[in-house]
Amino acid sequence: MAAVIGMSVAGDASAQETVKVGLIVSMTGPQASTGKQIKAAVDLYQKEHGNTVAGKKVEVILRDSASVPDNTKRIAQELIVNEKVNVIAGFEVTPSALAIAPLATEAKVPAVVMAAGTSIITERSPYIVRTSFTLPQSSVIIADWAAKNNIKKVVTLVSDYAPGADAEKSFVDRFKAAGGEIAAAIKVPLASPDFAPFLQRAADAKPDAIFVFVPSGQGGTFMKQFTERGLDKAGIRIIGPGDVTDDDLLPAMGDSVIGAVTAHLYSADHDSAKNKAYVDAFQKANNFRPNFMSVGGYDGMHLIYEALKKTGGKADGDSLIAAMKGLAWESPRGPISIDPETRDIIQNIYIRKVEKKNGQLYNVEFATFENVKDPAKAAKK
Ligand code: PHB
Repeated sequence: MAAVIGMSVAGDASAQETVKVGLIVSMTGPQASTGKQIKAAVDLYQKEHGNTVAGKKVEVILRDSASVPDNTKRIAQELIVNEKVNVIAGFEVTPSALAIAPLATEAKVPAVVMAAGTSIITERSPYIVRTSFTLPQSSVIIADWAAKNNIKKVVTLVSDYAPGADAEKSFVDRFKAAGGEIAAAIKVPLASPDFAPFLQRAADAKPDAIFVFVPSGQGGTFMKQFTERGLDKAGIRIIGPGDVTDDDLLPAMGDSVIGAVTAHLYSADHDSAKNKAYVDAFQKANNFRPNFMSVGGYDGMHLIYEALKKTGGKADGDSLIAAMKGLAWESPRGPISIDPETRDIIQNIYIRKVEKKNGQLYNVEFATFENVKDPAKAAKK
């Protein structure tokens, strides 16, 4: 009898319903590397876990934002209205994530932020959940490390938009409170950056280190110009969140990046069985190394799958968001969870130094700060 009921349910149209995930990332334009990483990770997740969960088929609809936040907004609207997607996801930069916040709220569609890192994003809609990171999570930790490691005078150099402002503020407040000196605070335009004149200003201030935040994809140019200007020879160290020594670009950066110390959520060199399997499978499927953006995509898919399991396949926005709150799991980056209060990610932050291992450059982790919540939100309480 049970088998008959089971069969009739399986034959029912609603039981075969597809859960649609609208994945909006930059496959072209200046942030294309982030889209490429996230797409590769989402594909890998579905290859490993199948595309059926809790009796529903999970269909990912990929759309290219071309790195333009207005496109992201228009595409999100189209996917919500025409495709009737159950979830929107991706968002390679903060302005894209902010652009979709009112749509998520109005349509009650969960938005999984897989890449952007400005603290405020999750406060813009009760339907936003983040699997990436916040800049304050790592900037506060590298400030403490610098103050304790004989770095007394720092120039900050950040990309001139919201995550740069977050990184700068959280670093400067913390470093100054520990007695450090900020010799100059430099902002670099986000679009097609030429770092050379800004690096000259930084060098003139004769700091012990430059605290740098550039978004994923720009670290290679930054390091090239840093070296061309001879700042490495002048003994100026690189510190910051790990975006500048992004695993995607690190292998081609050259030896002048050796010794850069950053705090971040993920290194391809992270020492766990889960990560070794992830890196192997990722590199087999693609001819590049996974970076910190990739785990935002991989874990974002895991979050959607696990929420669907918890709701028994119910895919309305309120059920999914409720199910996502408090979920905890082991990511390739280490243990992570979704803060049930803020819908933001809680994760380990690692301090790493660029070293050569078997002839290749890696961010080698040497200290771990466990279960770090977004410090910018904690400060507001
Ligand atoms: C952002 O725009 O929020 C962003 C982009 C790239 C990063 C970090 C933050 O590496």
